[in-house]
Amino acid sequence: NKKAFIFDLDGVIVDTAKYHYLAWQKIANELGIEFTPERNEELKGVSRVRSLDIILELGKITASQSDKDKWLAQKNEDYLSYLVDMDESEILPGVMHILKFLKEQNQPIALGSASKNARPILEKTKTISYFDAIIDGNDVTHAKPDPEVFVQAAKALGISNEDSIVFEDSVAGVQAANIAKMTSVGIGQASVLHEAQFIFPDFTHIDTSFIESLIKK
Ligand code: G6P
Ligand code: MG
Repeated sequence: NKKAFIFDLDGVIVDTAKYHYLAWQKIANELGIEFTPERNEELKGVSRVRSLDIILELGKITASQSDKDKWLAQKNEDYLSYLVDMDESEILPGVMHILKFLKEQNQPIALGSASKNARPILEKTKTISYFDAIIDGNDVTHAKPDPEVFVQAAKALGISNEDSIVFEDSVAGVQAANIAKMTSVGIGQASVLHEAQFIFPDFTHIDTSFIESLIKK
């Protein structure tokens, strides 16, 4: 029995969601826009371009394309500055245990991330070899909650949507998985991710018997 195990990156495999937040907060501050952790939930899983638009909408700011391009570049530069020293220590607790178990079980694994920085992060954290397919922000035209990224990932693994399992920390990502009729596993707070079929606070709460039950399903 083969299932597609599709992982989001930021906030699921690595603790980079906090760096995205810090970088956006800096832009918002400069523009005099109040930007809270609650507001940040709307940005999780969402593309860089769409994230800036959400922040500008929040501050009721209309900007020229050249200003937007400047802020987008500034955000990414700032974000990348947090990643310079990145290594395996930034992998979230419990993740390696599950990735290793899936490999032992010969289950296909894919990355399904909106980030254009996904590959260097997987390389720095030495997790890239676990992935049989990598679909990221460079491959898709429609951002989550559009299911494109996960549909492409399942296709690359040669597995149907119904036999795919998605691990996500974002509301948009959980919705994308649900729209694609994949099994959605939320990683984070139940109050935020209540649309997911399963919810765990983090991977230390996911045991191999849960994974086995997904494989058998
Ligand atoms: C992920 C993150 C978002 C981020 C997006 C684009 O989905 O959850 O916070 O905005 O990727 O990432 P990038 O690295 O391309 O700016
Ligand atoms: Mg995420």
